[in-house]
Amino acid sequence: MMEDIDRIMEVMDDAFEPRWGEAWTRGQVSSLLTLPSTHYRLVDSAGARPVDHAPTAGFTLVRAVPGEEELLLIGVKPQDRASGLGRKLLDFLVRDARSRGAERVFLEMRENNPAVNLYVNAGFRQIGRRSGYYKTTDGVRLDAITFALDF
Ligand SMILES: CC(C)(COP(=O)(O)OP(=O)(O)OC[C@H]1O[C@@H](n2cnc3c(N)ncnc32)[C@H](O)[C@@H]1OP(=O)(O)O)[C@@H](O)C(=O)NCCC(=O)NCCS
Repeated sequence: MMEDIDRIMEVMDDAFEPRWGEAWTRGQVSSLLTLPSTHYRLVDSAGARPVDHAPTAGFTLVRAVPGEEELLLIGVKPQDRASGLGRKLLDFLVRDARSRGAERVFLEMRENNPAVNLYVNAGFRQIGRRSGYYKTTDGVRLDAITFALDF
């Protein structure tokens, strides 16, 4: 487990722009992963599970409740983007969630995140908006948009 947290944090530190305040700390990730209802997936630049000293290119963190799963975070290192890894991680998420008995996956995204293309292309639809939910490091409030994919 320790090594996988290192891998998650390796991507976290590169993938999330500090100004949005979205990255989680190591402490937050490690306490989340002590809960049996949380899951993660790691990929290398070829979309496989990283082994040995292969660098990690991306990860997802997911929380499950009966019937539903929530994508908490998805990140791909900047140098590994635009080659389908984000989509691959979402496809893994859908497959894994189905196999765990979920009927739906949802996620929340800040309103100006270009990741919207990724979610819409994967079949997610907007189901809600929370006004001023996120606060950037320079104090700007941004809405959260909720997306869902029903199986
Ligand atoms: C969102 C993210 C995971 C996408 O990873 P990726 O490996 O580049 O995704 P893919 O290569 O599978 O791209 C999938 C689609 O989404 C679009 N897309 C994804 N991220 C984009 C971005 N930053 N800007 C523009 N388009 C983007 C691509 O155009 C692509 O569509 P296409 O295949 O029709 O061209 C990556 O940009 C990232 O880590 N962003 C920072 C962290 C973040 O904001 N995460 C989401 C909120 S938790």
